[in-house]
Amino acid sequence: MIETAILGFGTVGSGVAEVIDRNQKQIQRDLPEGLHVKYILDLRDFPDSPYADRVVHDINVILDDPEVRIVCETMGGKEPAFTFSKQCLERGKSVCTSNKELVDALGGKLAVIAKEHNCSYLFEASVGGGIPILRPLRTSFSQEFITDVVGILNGTTNYILTKMEAEDLDFDVALKQAQDNGFAERNPEADIEGYDPCRKIAILASLVTGGNVKFSQVPCEGISKIDKNDLKYARKIHRAVKLLGVCHHDQASNQVYVCTAPYLVSEGHPLYAVNDVFNGILVRGNMVGDLMFYGSGAGKLPTASAVVSDVVEEAQTLGRNINIGLNNTDADLMDPSNVREQYFIRTTKEDEKTVKEVFGDVIAVSIPEVTDEFAFVTSEMNEREKDAKIEKLAGFRKAIRLLGRFDLDSPEQSAQA
Ligand code: HSE
Repeated sequence: MIETAILGFGTVGSGVAEVIDRNQKQIQRDLPEGLHVKYILDLRDFPDSPYADRVVHDINVILDDPEVRIVCETMGGKEPAFTFSKQCLERGKSVCTSNKELVDALGGKLAVIAKEHNCSYLFEASVGGGIPILRPLRTSFSQEFITDVVGILNGTTNYILTKMEAEDLDFDVALKQAQDNGFAERNPEADIEGYDPCRKIAILASLVTGGNVKFSQVPCEGISKIDKNDLKYARKIHRAVKLLGVCHHDQASNQVYVCTAPYLVSEGHPLYAVNDVFNGILVRGNMVGDLMFYGSGAGKLPTASAVVSDVVEEAQTLGRNINIGLNNTDADLMDPSNVREQYFIRTTKEDEKTVKEVFGDVIAVSIPEVTDEFAFVTSEMNEREKDAKIEKLAGFRKAIRLLGRFDLDSPEQSAQA
């Protein structure tokens, strides 16, 4: 048996132990030696757990035991997760993690330390929960230049938006339902303000470019300002509001554009059908075209399953480094204000004349719920242009980006974009 340890026995950590025990037979198809959890590090004791006798409170027990070859860090947060992971890697123990905060902040550094010590640092579970996405990016695309990764990367907000749309709910009511059903945290800020999916798209962008993209460098907008009328307008133009992480890697300049924001996604787009707590990630390669990855983006066992997939790969490659393509340099980020997009703009009826002067001939869209306003789709423009134009609107209410082209001359065709 290959000996492992788990750091942090919370939801994901206990899931890792469960996956290893319940699916030992399946694991042994690819790893005949099998896996065993020798230690569980936690501040707490778990006297009623079948793992009670494996709980330790001192990291040195794990560090000093040469039998432990692989460590699963499921503690979350930056410290002491970073120090413990670093210490394990420096002793040649491979580490795998679901901790997106640490991967975003210091993943490149830990990847380099792993390389220096002939072991590995993997983090499949940090993005998309149970969906295999980082491993395919690393192993199936050597022949590709990946131009785009666009994803619904947060189950909680996708659930909220789906509920608002399907049941005509206000944001606060849908959020409360998400909390009552155990999807949203009691403090839902990281989800609804977009920080969680922003970290995930930053990790994906880092892997796609090979350079670090940090969460703090990525423009981030959540869904707390989305109201149910936005969804009704969206439906009128055959679209739905989705919170997306967007990464565009320009082959000519090698620059990358990364952002997290609500977008209007058209009916014909594969992400349109990703509802409830599910995640969906569209990857576009310059040769292979579009590929969709879909599944459970959160939850104890899906996330733990992704952690264990890393453990198995590390167990198969003991004594050597799995190159994840991160080298601790910084990615070349595009200035987001130069990126050209179409916008859906809501403003009051008093602006009708100004809209024509500033935006040209637009097709006005209205819904019966708000009689004092209308909305329209702009031509493509960068953010600076958009901001300068909306400044002229006395009754401006909201601007939402569009994913995929909306044909201003033939809006019906745009449902397929
Ligand atoms: N809170 C996240 C979500 C799960 O709702 O998708 C952990 O990344």
